[in-house]
Amino acid sequence: MKNTKSMIPTIFKTLHTSTLNELENIYKNWAPDYEHDVIQLAGYVGHLITTRLLLKYFTNNEFEVLDAGCGTGLVGEILHKKGIKNIVGVDFSQQMLDLALKKNVYKSLHLMDLTKKLDFEDDTFDAIVCAGTFTCGHVGPEAFVEMVRITKSGGYISFTVRKQEWEALPYEKTIKDLEEAELWHEIERFTSDYNVQEGISCQLCLYQIAA
Ligand SMILES: C[S@@+](CC[C@H](N)C(=O)[O-])C[C@H]1O[C@@H](n2cnc3c(N)ncnc32)[C@H](O)[C@@H]1O
Repeated sequence: MKNTKSMIPTIFKTLHTSTLNELENIYKNWAPDYEHDVIQLAGYVGHLITTRLLLKYFTNNEFEVLDAGCGTGLVGEILHKKGIKNIVGVDFSQQMLDLALKKNVYKSLHLMDLTKKLDFEDDTFDAIVCAGTFTCGHVGPEAFVEMVRITKSGGYISFTVRKQEWEALPYEKTIKDLEEAELWHEIERFTSDYNVQEGISCQLCLYQIAA
């Protein structure tokens, strides 16, 4: 992926790391400026579109929602304002989690790597939101299997996949394999704005776990 004049240097760096350790170090230093940079400079809307899509279908405020790759808590803030109180967040950056904690919108926050087996029982959550985290150098389509495992039958997974990541990795195949295995099915999937000021789009997806 080329750097463009409009791309924020730190965002460019996060998309071009070769190890999780390197990525973690970038977030460690970037955490205090993350929200300003992604929203004001890049025009990021991942948190807005994933929550809006989920809330079209998701009606019970008592439900348990996982914010996967919660970062500083942008998704949690929106869900909390909408009356959802059982929000659990996971992220692999302690510095991002520390900022999410300050928002007082999460029931619990956990340091966890979404590319590994997740420390949750089967069928734990009614929904997962994963905004901005299926992206280059972050989390790939292999994470879907665990997300499906920990989501209840009839539950939803709402996520973005950045355009270049969608084209580079076997997202379509992994998603189709899970459909063919009758583990989930598509509710909505379409191209959406993502980093508006950078001119970057994403696939915005909502899948429902088989009943
Ligand atoms: C672009 S930010 C999105 C944060 C938040 N969801 C939002 O919408 O603002 C990506 C987040 O994914 C986290 N992340 C990257 N790789 C991860 C991994 N393997 N496991 C868990 N979190 C990861 C980063 O620490 C960062 O907080």
